[in-house]
This record gives sequence, C-alpha cells and structure tokens, in this order.
Amino acid sequence: MRVLVWGLGYVGTVVSACLAERGHEVIGVEVSAEKVKKFNSGYSPIKEPDLDELIQQGLANGNLKAVTDGREYVAWADMSLICVGTPSSPDGSPILDYIYSVAKEIGYGMQQSDRYHVVVLRSTVFSGVARKQLLPILEEYSQKKVGEDFGLTMNPEFLRETTAVHDFYHPPLTAIGEYDARSGAMVEKLYDGIDAPIYHIPLEDAEVLKIVNNAFHALKVGFANEIGRLCDAIDVDSHKIMELLCADTKLNISSKYLKPGFAFGGSCLPKDLRSLAFNANRLGEKLPILESVLPSNQIHIDTARLKVHDLGVRSVAVLGLSFKAGTDDLRESPIINLVHQLWQDGMKVRVCDADIQDLNTMLGSNREYLERQLPQVHWVFRTDLAEVLKECDAVILSQHRSEFTEALQQYAANKPVLDLVTWQSHGGLAEQIPAQAA
Ligand SMILES: NC(=O)c1ccc[n+]([C@@H]2O[C@H](COP(=O)([O-])OP(=O)(O)OC[C@H]3O[C@@H](n4cnc5c(N)ncnc54)[C@H](O)[C@@H]3O)[C@@H](O)[C@H]2O)c1
Repeated sequence: MRVLVWGLGYVGTVVSACLAERGHEVIGVEVSAEKVKKFNSGYSPIKEPDLDELIQQGLANGNLKAVTDGREYVAWADMSLICVGTPSSPDGSPILDYIYSVAKEIGYGMQQSDRYHVVVLRSTVFSGVARKQLLPILEEYSQKKVGEDFGLTMNPEFLRETTAVHDFYHPPLTAIGEYDARSGAMVEKLYDGIDAPIYHIPLEDAEVLKIVNNAFHALKVGFANEIGRLCDAIDVDSHKIMELLCADTKLNISSKYLKPGFAFGGSCLPKDLRSLAFNANRLGEKLPILESVLPSNQIHIDTARLKVHDLGVRSVAVLGLSFKAGTDDLRESPIINLVHQLWQDGMKVRVCDADIQDLNTMLGSNREYLERQLPQVHWVFRTDLAEVLKECDAVILSQHRSEFTEALQQYAANKPVLDLVTWQSHGGLAEQIPAQAA
C-alpha cells in the first residue's frame, strides 16, 4: 500500500521504516527540514537501534523517502498515519494543535483527489478526539464525507523506545478503532504477516485503551517503587518480595482482580491496607498510591449510591449482602455500607442473601458486626426472595448466582437492575445477567 506518515519522531520514524521494509511504499512528512534532510541521507532523526539500516534499505529500494510538505501526496496515498506529538500543557490538558494542523493538510489534500483515503490516528489522545475533533476538521477541509469518500481509524501505538523496531514486529496485540468496517479492513492490511491478534473496536475504545495501558504501566512502576521504599525502611529485600509476588501467576500476575465491578471488602484487604498505611506512617514513609486505595474504594461505594438514585426509584431489593457469593462472612462487606447509606437517604431497602437464611442463628462476631454496622438489619433483611422482588421498584445485584437470576426472571423481569458485579445497569433485562460469578 501507499502510506503517508505524518511526523517523523519516535513513532513516525520507526513506523515508516518498518512499513517500508514490509514492502509498502512510504513517504514520511515532517515539518522539520533538518529531520527530513537527515532521514533522506540515510540516518534516523531519532536514536533507536536498527533504524539507520532500515532507512537506508528503504531509500535504496525506493520504498521510502521524507518530505516537508505532504499535501500534494495525499492523492497518491491509500492512507495517512498521524504520528505527531500530543504533549501536555501546564494544566495537564493535552495539546492537540499538531493533530489539527496535520488534519487540515490531509483535508486540503483529499479535496484535490477522488481517491478513497483512510486517515489513521496513531498519536495518543483521550477518548472522543478522533470523532469529535479530528473528523470535523477533515470533513470541513476536504469537503468530503467520512464513510463515503474517506475512512477514519484510531490505531494506537504500543512500541517502547529502545526496543521499538523489535516491538513493531512483535506487538502484544493490534487494536484498530474504526469509524466503519471498510476503514478498519484497510488498516488491517498494514499488519499482514505480523503474528499478533487484531481487535476491531470503536474509535473511542481504541483511544482510551492506549491511555489506560500507559496508566497501568505507570501504576505498576509506582506500586513496585512504593514497595521498594517500604521494604528499604524495614530492611527487607524488595526485589525478593516482588519476585515472589510475581511468581504467583494465579492471583497476582493474571487477569484476576482486573474486572471493573463493585468495591472490595472482606476481612483481609481493608484491614491489611490500613496496617500497611499505619506502619508506613510510623516509619516516616509516604506511600500515596497505597494510601489512596481505601479512599478510592469508598468513592466507589458512594458512586454506587448515586447510581441507585439515578434509577429514580423509591424502593430497592439488594441481592447479596456478603462481599462475595458463597460466604456468610460479612466483615467489611461494602454492600452493607451501601445499604446503610440508602437507608439513611430514606429509600425502602430490602436485602436477601442465600448464604444467610436466618439472622437469629447467625453466630458471634459476625452477628455483632452486622448489628453494629447495620442497626436496621432486622428491618431490611428478608428470606422470601420472591416477595422482595415482587415488591421492589429496582434490583441491586451484588452477586451472580443462579437462584438470583432465575428469581429475577420470574418475578422482576421488567424492573431495572443495577448489576454491581459488572458495574452496569440493565433496563429490566434480567436475562443478560450471567448465572455464575465471573
Ligand atoms: N514515543 C513513544 O514511545 C510513543 C509510543 C506510543 C505512542 N506515542 C504517542 O505517539 C505520538 C507521537 O510521539 P513521538 O514520541 O513520536 O513524538 P515526537 O515529538 O518525537 O515526534 C512528533 C514529530 O511530529 C512532527 N510534527 C509536528 N507537527 C507536524 C506537522 N504538522 N506535520 C508533520 N510533522 C509534524 C514534529 O516535528 C516531530 O518530529 C504522541 O501522541 C505519543 O504520545 C509515543
């Protein structure tokens, strides 16, 4: 294919050289005349292993060159990859001006052409930029219509500096955010012969996916460094600890605990986070990431309360009181906190839990804990699930279990459901809820 790559920085240079190596005809467009000169004389404008050789190969076989003005080449090309920078302004907002000016150039170029052209945003942006900001500029300056005359995709770049060429050939996955299937199919051809799964997703998903990936990486580094500081303060080898943490690929380095859902609770996580924060403080160590986990969890519970109010109902049935299905351990169950808040808000709340059939037979500390945290428990707790579902206006589901799903379908099929397990609301579509916990 014929490809224009806008911006010959860290991303654009690698992508241009690698695409040329794979047999595509590539023209790099770069505002800096100095970078263009260096590129055309066979040297990468950025330092990256193996790049000079790839550029020299592309120049020699005629697949690659760089120019300072790309407008006239738009009619020649099948697609434009936008790889310009998106730096932060002092208030943290991203500067999108480089994207806007490239979009105008591509727009002018498309106006002069009858050829179908796909615009591929590769710069990292927040969700909504491609559709709400880039697209209107392209349509205005080209006087053409997306989906008919040109295509639009957002194809995030996952390469890392210093291993960028290797990463190009061995990506973990390829995500193609697409305006329509035709645009996405064109972009997929760029990855012919590269062994990695390809996911076609909406534009907005692709944009946020890249930012969420980077946030996760940063969070991992920040977490490991806080563990490093903590272990230093108690004279423990942090590398050994993190090595063992990573050796657990069942719970730690796995997809466990990485699904958006309801707040965590139970007898261990909140207590141990408090202990960690207390001891760090005692040792004079500041661990802001770890110390903010419990406040973040509380905000999640408070947000669930607002989501319940958004349903616009007066009475709710809460299915599941313990922090997960299959236990009657109620300690620090976040759902108790939620039920308490809703009760205080004046909402009629009824609670059922298949693991707690009878409050009177509940033993010792569990019962004491429940009565202390939820003094109104004898008012709100019910054992007759069918009756509770028939009487309520909406259902809050905190556990996925077959008896709940079946009863929902039978007695409350048309009532709104707030599914805390998946953090999603359903408008009376009880059948969408999985029977078993994920
Ligand atoms: N650097 C990375 O490792 C990396 C990895 C993945 C994604 N990204 C994202 O990719 C984007 C580009 O990052 P980068 O590090 O390559 O940026 P960069 O600053 O190194 O390169 C951008 C290039 O675009 C050029 N440019 C600016 N306006 C232009 C215009 N109108 N026409 C042509 N060229 C123009 C600049 O002169 C510069 O050479 C950013 O959004 C970044 O967040 C970067």
